Amino acid sequence: MLLLDPYEVRRDFPIFARKVHGKQLIYFDNAATSQRPVQVIEAVDSFYRSLNANIGRSVHELALAATEAYEAARKVVAAFIGAKPDELVFTKNTTESINLAAYSLLASGLVRSGNEILVTRMEHHSNLLPWVRVARLAGAKLKVVEVTDDGRLDLDDFRRKLTDKVRVLAVTHVSNVTGVVNPVKELCEEARSRGALCLVDGAQSVPHMRVDVSRIKPDFLAFSGHKMLGPMGIGGLYIKRELAEKLEPPFPGGGAISLVECGVEECRAEWLQAPHKFEAGTPNVAGAVGLSAAVEYLERIGMESIEAHERRLTEKALGILQELGVTVYGPLDVKDRVGVVSFNVGKLTPHEVAQLLDSEGIAVRSGHHCALPLVKRLGTPLGTVRASFYLYNTLEELDVFEEALRKILVIAS
Ligand SMILES: Cc1ncc(COP(=O)(O)O)c(C=O)c1O
Repeated sequence: MLLLDPYEVRRDFPIFARKVHGKQLIYFDNAATSQRPVQVIEAVDSFYRSLNANIGRSVHELALAATEAYEAARKVVAAFIGAKPDELVFTKNTTESINLAAYSLLASGLVRSGNEILVTRMEHHSNLLPWVRVARLAGAKLKVVEVTDDGRLDLDDFRRKLTDKVRVLAVTHVSNVTGVVNPVKELCEEARSRGALCLVDGAQSVPHMRVDVSRIKPDFLAFSGHKMLGPMGIGGLYIKRELAEKLEPPFPGGGAISLVECGVEECRAEWLQAPHKFEAGTPNVAGAVGLSAAVEYLERIGMESIEAHERRLTEKALGILQELGVTVYGPLDVKDRVGVVSFNVGKLTPHEVAQLLDSEGIAVRSGHHCALPLVKRLGTPLGTVRASFYLYNTLEELDVFEEALRKILVIAS
């Protein structure tokens, strides 16, 4: 495995030329969205300059070239997660991917009255609210697996709640609040052995570690392009082929059908094969092309190198926070987590700390991180300050972070 050189990586990211409050930007808000390298910006730019046409419809040269670029992007992104091209549906983001999965199950009658849906207390609202809605519409029961005091999944509670009535387990791979990594391969295996389907929310894992569906064997895997160097407005939903064949598309429309017939009183449609039946309407073609460029960029650096680099950053960040005596949430052992660190400083609110860090040029997120049930369980209803890292962050930036925190501690005292 090659050691990643973040200083070399940074040269590809034009945003780092920018100053914030007159200071060099230190971007520690990668769990919200990442920055983009020139390779991605140019791929999107080049699509609109020389390839732009709608896809899968017209037969002119430009339309065929655009269709080819879109399908080539699908191949690259699918291979990145160990899937076949026809198992990858392009969506807008993780939120849309999870809604697509949930409503497909509802539309296909695979979640019904009397069934149970299992989620966990550490889910992002995007992997909670679609299931709340679908459970209500189906007449199914939603059950929540608890977390331990340090924010890990309570596996005993998981096993207690995984009854034969559970039809779906929806679980995050990595918590966007604590960085905890869940054993999703084992969770999916146990769910499968009880006859349940398994959706993995990969929003915080796919950008940061090698995620391979042929190893984890989920039924669905959802992720967002904008958190992995890609453009905003493009994401993915992996659907296992045998399941995709059975699923009714919940959002029907043009581009998803092989036939539509209307009699006097009724119309009917026949769907295209997956993934096209799930992609009605004009998709984000430039976004897919940009995401493919992002994946090529990540692959060139190597996911193993990226993960190891983030682990070094996380270890140093946790060391700084502990030495300064601030409250850290989640396990302190770096092997159980990735590059997301949540903390609070004395009596200051998370937003106050984030504003003080911003005045030093350091961008972090503060608040509930769209995971209210978890932050309440962690005993911090106003949420936390969250620093999250990526391949272009440096150990030196953490020295600046430490200095800034020392100043904030003086204010807090
Ligand atoms: C774990 C997790 N799931 C889902 C989402 C939703 O992602 P998006 O806003 O790209 O749909 C996020 C975003 O932060 C997340 O961290």
